[in-house]
Amino acid sequence: MKPNERILVALDTTDKKRAKKLITGLNGHIGGVKIGKEFFTANGPQGVRYVLSEGQPFFLDLKFHDIPNTVIGALRSAMKLKPSIVNVHASGGAAMLRAAAQTVSELGLSRPLLIAVTILTSLEDTDMADIGFSSIITDQVLRLAKLAQKCGLDGVVCSPHEIKAIRDACGSDFKLIVPGIRPGWATHGDQRRITTPRQAIDRGADYIVIGRPITDHDKPVDAAKRIVEELSVV
Ligand code: C5P
Repeated sequence: MKPNERILVALDTTDKKRAKKLITGLNGHIGGVKIGKEFFTANGPQGVRYVLSEGQPFFLDLKFHDIPNTVIGALRSAMKLKPSIVNVHASGGAAMLRAAAQTVSELGLSRPLLIAVTILTSLEDTDMADIGFSSIITDQVLRLAKLAQKCGLDGVVCSPHEIKAIRDACGSDFKLIVPGIRPGWATHGDQRRITTPRQAIDRGADYIVIGRPITDHDKPVDAAKRIVEELSVV
């Protein structure tokens, strides 16, 4: 994979005109965009069709978490938009994960990657007991990553700090999609446990999710090119 193909740009906006302008400008410079609940709830499937040009790769980050039958239906609707990556919460359990894997496989070779969310990185060890988990976060992340793999999912979203442990447990084919990325020259914003794009790729990330360092930059295409240059240095 070329370095630029590993970059997914997070479009966290409700403004579809702004999103379209960003996507059009970035087309060809990055691997794809990530469209999440903020954009999708405001603009729906029509909004997704409006901002993307035909065949443009995108990650539809809707993090489904529901009973198997509902997740199956939601995934079938989502797949009509032809995303290249979709996701569900691993804590939805084995039956839901298997149902999700079976549903994406209905599309055969053109199926999207099915990725699991393990533990949201906004949670800390102290939150775990409140929601009834007895493990510390890293143990729970590993447990859910292994469950997702066993149920036929292609990979997980994880923090840069979890890459190595998940790689060791799940092997080199398991896809790791990694947000919490800040180039050395960008401000951190509300992200805490971050690494640079280069560090994340060197640790074994398959894709890195980058939002504001590109989308809030005066010249988003220049920011993307600078990141690609940093990834390309041998
Ligand atoms: O602007 P920024 O680079 O912080 O955007 C990161 C994107 O990745 C946002 O869409 C955020 O919701 C998402 N994300 C994250 N941490 C996770 C999972 C998703 O920052 N663990």
